[in-house]
Amino acid sequence: MSRLNLAILISGRGSNMEALLRAAAAPDYPARPVLVLSNRPNALGLETALAAGVQAVAIDHKAYGKDREAFERAMDAALIGAGTEIIALAGFMRVLTPWFVGKWQGRMVNIHPSLLPKYKGLDTHQRAIDAGDTEAGATVHWVSPGVDDGEIIQQASLPILPGDTAETLAARLLPVEHALYPAALAKACAVVASVG
Ligand code: GRF
Repeated sequence: MSRLNLAILISGRGSNMEALLRAAAAPDYPARPVLVLSNRPNALGLETALAAGVQAVAIDHKAYGKDREAFERAMDAALIGAGTEIIALAGFMRVLTPWFVGKWQGRMVNIHPSLLPKYKGLDTHQRAIDAGDTEAGATVHWVSPGVDDGEIIQQASLPILPGDTAETLAARLLPVEHALYPAALAKACAVVASVG
């Protein structure tokens, strides 16, 4: 079985990245991590990746001021340099320009902590609670130019319990995300592999 070279983009804790690295440690997983890239030099996930033996690099977006494309060109060069074939965004907190999305469209997925198309953007859990929803969840989707707008690959849900806060809900959702993302990324790999 051929395995796609996987780059994971993070901004912080990196627990979803860790779940992907764990899944990819299985020899039959369809992706092989080649790079973890963070836009924040102090992201905890960088250390986790290094400890797992994966190349981990910070490209500080602040160094590029308002020039988003210059930042993305630096990311793109690192991605190409590592031989990236598929990108997983895992808590990556920068909005990507149409240039970057266009370059990687069809090869880039994201995990978003809501049942899309509900609650694109931030504060997903508080918005679900405020709306009186009885369930929340997470979505893995292809990345398209619109924020949190691409075609859905897979979702997982859980009930919102009486008394839930955004924090308790996020904490209960996290292990659900960790199971969802490796499964959904495997599906995405099958699609990328089929188009060559
Ligand atoms: C997760 O809730 C993910 O859905 C969202 O950002 C959070 C990242 O957490 N996009 P982590 O860095 O993977 O621990």
